Amino acid sequence: EKGGFDSFMDKEIHDQPQAVGDTLLGRTDVDGRLVLDDLRIDEAVLRSIDKIVVVACGTAAYAGHVAKYAIEHWCRIPVEVELAHEFRYRDPVVGPRTLVVAVSQSGETMDTLMAVRHAREQGAKVLAICNTYGSTIPRESDAVLYTHAGPEIAVASTKAFLSQITAAYLLGLYLAQLRGNKFPDEIVEIFDQLREMPGRIQQVLDRADHVRKAAREMSDVPSVLFLGRHVGFPVALEGALKLKELAYIHAEGFAAGELKHGPIALIEEGQPVFVIVPSPRGRDSLHSKVISNIQEIRARGARTLVIAEDGDTAVEPFADEVFWVPQCPTLLSPLLATVPLQVFACELATARGLDVDQPRNLAKSVTVE
Ligand code: M6R
Repeated sequence: EKGGFDSFMDKEIHDQPQAVGDTLLGRTDVDGRLVLDDLRIDEAVLRSIDKIVVVACGTAAYAGHVAKYAIEHWCRIPVEVELAHEFRYRDPVVGPRTLVVAVSQSGETMDTLMAVRHAREQGAKVLAICNTYGSTIPRESDAVLYTHAGPEIAVASTKAFLSQITAAYLLGLYLAQLRGNKFPDEIVEIFDQLREMPGRIQQVLDRADHVRKAAREMSDVPSVLFLGRHVGFPVALEGALKLKELAYIHAEGFAAGELKHGPIALIEEGQPVFVIVPSPRGRDSLHSKVISNIQEIRARGARTLVIAEDGDTAVEPFADEVFWVPQCPTLLSPLLATVPLQVFACELATARGLDVDQPRNLAKSVTVE
């Protein structure tokens, strides 16, 4: 059942090109327009929403963070992301013009389910992004957008995460199309690019030996930090969560811009730091700012493990290791940059002799509050 892999997690990491491809399958009509058949919320209602609130826990919440960057940019609708267990205890402002998006692999996470119930009581429409047919959260939601990742067995979420991000992109592109957004050409271009992503994820997997080697060499480190900016920030959080869950070592993700506001004090000789570098082809000056961050931490002794886009030679002078990923539009880059971090956590935990499919103290779905 593990398809020749040593663990379900390793298999599921390698299933990701297919999981993303399957999530994209059958979502366009003959004219190439996006159709989300399973969305079942009246188009007039979707046109009238003035706010989106994503509720989720753990890895699914990080997919929500990525969704925020993409949907706000493509649709100009404000998007909040909230941990489901915080949402309902803070008297959130939601109503009939709010679309609440509940992201859950299992569809059974109690905290997320309670947030769904609370949102509906307030009159909000709820859309579930879910991987499990007929589970409770989609049943109790107004609509569902299924991810087609297939069953995820390992406790640590991998292919479900990439599929959730993919579904969130589909939702964003669909809303942009429906509401007549400002950049129709960009939407068509992004959808074409999205269809290229399974092949690019496969390329990242094909290059993963370098990550595995680095992970084995670092199997006794006490702590690893992760820095990212823009959509690289949720990727950093996810990289840290994977390492905590699987390898039981201290790991923390930061927004790279926060460094000077505190976390840089943690940097000492030999401290490993992953840095997810934004594309040099992207807007703004984010790329050069993150390069400066790498210089700053390296000057203080950090061991820098850099995830960068093919051709970004500017990172090389400051990187102890570079893990290259193919070029793609910035907003889609989490689908690539996450993969080396998953492989790293899986390999490091395995090198420590741990069971990556069943980490201690964790359950696959958390059905209690
Ligand atoms: O089934 P869900 O997507 O609702 O689960 C949410 C979290 O419990 C889950 O993502 C958890 O954080 C994973 N162990 C992450 O690897």
